[in-house]
Amino acid sequence: MSAKIIDGKAISAAVKEQVRAEIERDKLNVGLAVVIVGDDPASRVYVNNKKKACELCGIKSFEYALPADCSEEQLLELVDTLNNDSSVNGILVQLPLPSHLDEKRVIERISPIKDVDAFHESNVGKIMIGNYSFLPCTPAGCMELIHSTGIDVAGKECVVIGRSNIVGKPMAMLLLHENGTVTVCHSKTKNLAEVCSRADILVAAVGRPNFVTADMVKEGAVVIDVGINRLETGSLCGDVKFDEVSEKAGWITPVPGGVGPMTIAMLMRNTVTACRIQSK
Ligand code: GUN
Repeated sequence: MSAKIIDGKAISAAVKEQVRAEIERDKLNVGLAVVIVGDDPASRVYVNNKKKACELCGIKSFEYALPADCSEEQLLELVDTLNNDSSVNGILVQLPLPSHLDEKRVIERISPIKDVDAFHESNVGKIMIGNYSFLPCTPAGCMELIHSTGIDVAGKECVVIGRSNIVGKPMAMLLLHENGTVTVCHSKTKNLAEVCSRADILVAAVGRPNFVTADMVKEGAVVIDVGINRLETGSLCGDVKFDEVSEKAGWITPVPGGVGPMTIAMLMRNTVTACRIQSK
């Protein structure tokens, strides 16, 4: 059996088109501020892609590039300024930050109603109890991809590999909200292959190239690959060994062209939501 490919590029294009049409129809004035510190090449690519998506949707994007050696005070002052700027509906500080800056302190400084990443403690707490305004972009994008298969999450065995605050933990919550039976695996998990191979829906967010092999995957499973790993050759690869897993899974996301574009599309959606909340 050969898996059906879940086309994240096409699905993200459809979400962005929805957002664009909504902004046009309701004549919304939407603005997103993106803050980048230093010159990490991967962060630069992500930030450029976010700006492009804003253009496509009709969202004004404001970029703030600070030098790698900027002080935490400088960065916090910028966040304060953006919090108080009514033309800015969403604030995104691109992570990771240089090691002398305290990411947690910076994130907590962002006004929760402008926190379009949903990284602020109060937004994380709201996700936990299922009463949220913003969903974190990557897990929300994964849910859209799962929905696109037409498979109902309720009652399914769902396994998430990885327990980061940005992906693994909120992903588990979203699957749980849809009544999946959720297991979260991590580096201390025993019998990882055996646990994963029970999954009807398997989400890999490990950050290790080709980590998930065919023996870890149930026949016909939905496999969502969150990994974006750059190999020494320069090419991108996911956390899932695509060639062999795609022979066994029922559905699979490619890398690139799977989860990556969805993250940005969900950011656009969150920014419009932020604009609506702030205009109330
Ligand atoms: N770095 C990698 N992914 C993300 C993301 O979704 N948001 C932010 N702010 N930084 C990131």
